[in-house]
Amino acid sequence: MTRELVQRMGSESAPVIIGSGILASVAGHVRRANGGKNPSKILIVADESIAATWASDVEKSWRNDSHGAVEISHVSICATESNKCAQTWSKVMDAAVRANLDRQGLIVAVGGGIVTDIAGFCAATYLRGIAWVAVPTTLLGMVDAALGGKTGMNLPLANGGIGKNLAGAFWPPLAVICDTLALTSLPPRIFRAGLAECFKHSMLVDRSIEPLLPGASGSYQSSEPVDQWKMIDLIARSAAVKLDIVAADPREANQRMLLNLGHTFAHAIESQFSDEFFHGEAVALGLVAAASASAASGAMAPADASAIRDRLAALGFAVVLPQQANVGNLEKSAGFDKKRLAGRLTLILPKAGGGADIVRQADPELLRIGLRAIGAVD
Ligand SMILES: NC(=O)c1ccc[n+]([C@@H]2O[C@H](COP(=O)([O-])OP(=O)(O)OC[C@H]3O[C@@H](n4cnc5c(N)ncnc54)[C@H](O)[C@@H]3O)[C@@H](O)[C@H]2O)c1
Repeated sequence: MTRELVQRMGSESAPVIIGSGILASVAGHVRRANGGKNPSKILIVADESIAATWASDVEKSWRNDSHGAVEISHVSICATESNKCAQTWSKVMDAAVRANLDRQGLIVAVGGGIVTDIAGFCAATYLRGIAWVAVPTTLLGMVDAALGGKTGMNLPLANGGIGKNLAGAFWPPLAVICDTLALTSLPPRIFRAGLAECFKHSMLVDRSIEPLLPGASGSYQSSEPVDQWKMIDLIARSAAVKLDIVAADPREANQRMLLNLGHTFAHAIESQFSDEFFHGEAVALGLVAAASASAASGAMAPADASAIRDRLAALGFAVVLPQQANVGNLEKSAGFDKKRLAGRLTLILPKAGGGADIVRQADPELLRIGLRAIGAVD
């Protein structure tokens, strides 16, 4: 079973193909998306931890499909937030120059959100923009990071923290290929991190997603076998939520901001505790914080906010910061200090019964209430 969705951004569209064991046919899917043509040269940008496995399968797919006619080069990346930086961008650009990639060349990103974000940004900036393909290998990548055409990298902040995605471009890929088999090698903690974004999509639009989450009837068990068909359905439903919102507002003028539910808080956590939390884990904490802020604003009953926290805890997420965190420092790390906050804080606050409100010029105290709800202290 393969599910095919379409990513629409303005006049551009790209297939999003979700299936099990489909890495062997990546080249064919990409050729179809490219009007029947193969690229002249390919640079595979792989997460180094899966370069010899899933990325190698992707390479074989092109070798078999083009009978050696496509020149293939490689570069691998150590996928950490601190490495999603200008040095890594430069390393990939050097590889593109060495590979003599021209305008008909293609960058193929194989990895989680760190790799697809930075490889996509390299594609956006090499020769003023060449085509790229995303082959996400994490659940979070399949339901979120590889979708919607946002590419980017982090920049260092003056306080020593990481400025998340401060450089970037909207540069949609030619195709997104999601193979659920790649999820079988994920450590349970990283697999679970993706469930936070699925949960967010359930909160925002499609309540039918939540019962599909592994462990929906109890705790998430790391030993639970991954049912490929159920996983394809979960990814397709969750991806559809993001793709519909992106199609309505590709450049995040308005509605697309809803996808940032929990993310103001998550970015604050990530910039301060960069390599301690995976993005999805920070998002889970952010959803708890956003629900508490929403309850404080009156948009949701405190019991609804508690139910969201309990559900995320049942999936195995930390719902309290594990170490002492300071509210003021977190505000600063997120790029908000008291002066900058005035009049410019936008918060996405979940509503009772589903959906969320985009609250512009939000009261900064709501941000602090959310941070305190996850254990930060003044
Ligand atoms: N562009 C967007 O719209 C968007 C949206 C959401 C998140 N993001 C970005 O995505 C990043 C997070 O992505 P992520 O959660 O996929 O994490 P990731 O890319 O950091 O990968 C997590 C870990 O999993 C490993 N890994 C990846 N695939 C594997 C596999 N199949 N088997 C075993 N190990 C594997 C990686 O080496 C890494 O250690 C963040 O930088 C975030 O800012 C971007």
